[in-house]
Amino acid sequence: MEFSIKSGSPEKQRSACVVVGVFDHRKLSYAGEVIDHAAAGYLADILRRGDMDGKPGTTRLLHNVPGLLCDRVLLVGLGREREFRDKNYREAVRAAVNALSETGVSEAAVYLSEIPVKKRDLGWNVEQAVLVAQETLYRFEQMKSKPEESKRVLRKLILAVSRRGELATGEAAALRGQAIAAGMKLAKDLGNLPGNVCTPGYLAAQAEELAKSRGFGVEVLDQAAIERFGMGAFLSVAKGSDEPARFIVLRYTGGDEKQQPIVLVGKGITFDSGGISLKPGADMDEMKYDMCGAASVLGTFQALAELKLPLNVVGLIPTCENLPSGRANKPGDVVTSLSGQTIEILNTDAEGRLILCDALTYAERFDPACVVDIATLTGACVMALGHVTSGLLANNDGLARELLHAGDVAHDRCWQLPLFDEYEEQLKSNFADMANIGGRPAGTITAAAFLGKFTKKYNWAHLDIAGTAWKSGKEKGSTGRPVPLLVHFLVKRAEG
Ligand code: BES
Ligand code: MN
Ligand code: ZN
Repeated sequence: MEFSIKSGSPEKQRSACVVVGVFDHRKLSYAGEVIDHAAAGYLADILRRGDMDGKPGTTRLLHNVPGLLCDRVLLVGLGREREFRDKNYREAVRAAVNALSETGVSEAAVYLSEIPVKKRDLGWNVEQAVLVAQETLYRFEQMKSKPEESKRVLRKLILAVSRRGELATGEAAALRGQAIAAGMKLAKDLGNLPGNVCTPGYLAAQAEELAKSRGFGVEVLDQAAIERFGMGAFLSVAKGSDEPARFIVLRYTGGDEKQQPIVLVGKGITFDSGGISLKPGADMDEMKYDMCGAASVLGTFQALAELKLPLNVVGLIPTCENLPSGRANKPGDVVTSLSGQTIEILNTDAEGRLILCDALTYAERFDPACVVDIATLTGACVMALGHVTSGLLANNDGLARELLHAGDVAHDRCWQLPLFDEYEEQLKSNFADMANIGGRPAGTITAAAFLGKFTKKYNWAHLDIAGTAWKSGKEKGSTGRPVPLLVHFLVKRAEG
């Protein structure tokens, strides 16, 4: 899908369709008023007859509206004007794109982007319109033998801004939106691929291809190198599977040599069966999504390269499967991490922290400005925050605030949980330096407290995306989150 930004009156648009909003109580948006005026009250008449009441998510397609140059007008319900916030705006764009793709229209001029959204500005509106449109049109059909029937002729959206002076802001926002959307698409595709296709080797090959096409550095350590390095915790998970592990190192150098890099670490479990502490069968297929942290790092790198941000960024992806076998971890096993600290594995299903801890120790060698890890780490996070908000924990409040803010402006929100020292008590082991689980209470926090034992040397934050990386049920699929959050975090850092 292509996007362009335009200023100019809606009644003069030659586009196949002009899209305008209608608030509750049949009140037209500004562009709607303008069109209604040119059409001598044609729209007001339709509203008066009760054919469109402005309820959120509803649409009405009008043909042959008098006084206009366009073929059609699409009315989109916006709900209450005084409560027109993020969710309503996004819903309106989604409804518009869905309605447009059911028509024969290949191009439309969308005036929803002009409508003020509470606490947001034009740049936000434009970026979100791009993101929501791309998300609405996304389909994953790589694994179908034939593509599904769809006419899908819609290929261009023109997003309106009110004044010529806003064109530059709108264009920059559209480019940012496109870069984020492309990064999300990559993350979604990787997440949606089944575990028998998206293996550690596949992820590594994708990383190599991405790095080559976008011109950044990549290095892939194979399982033998992981062993030589002394990543005993990572290796202990990897060795339970016949599919060999990889450790992927991405290096984007948009900043000058002296600039300390930001390190992003993504959990890359391409399938999590739980191992010997086997998970129940129901919904176990969803554990193919246990590499969504890794996918979000790759998606973010793609956007980073697209936007050419003047930063140095390192991506670290430990990737393997978690399966039961004669070589798998057993409850009670003790392993030695790259840091030298020993870990008693009381539950082999708490494998994410085992592969991440060695990557976090490896991160030290880059003398990082900060480290952010992204992981589908705990079911407890889904219980706490549901599927709306990612969990955030950090050993530095400034970094936490930056990520909270980035999540807000990207509409990809996270919420901070406390990481007080007291939680470490729950990780005590009689046989090793620590246990890999902390019991039922505060499962998301104790998982982070475990990682915190490996991040003492730098500023660090952890995003638990167990509830936000994919959707279950009828619309099962990867969401591409938290690529928007991460890109906004980096954009802000690049601005200094
Ligand atoms: N990948 C899972 C976390 C998960 C579970 C994400 C459900 C999304 C939905 C992780 O490896 C895991 O199994 N965590 C355990 C930890 C427990 C054994 C301490 C969990 O949350 O049950
Ligand atoms: Mn697990
Ligand atoms: Zn897992």
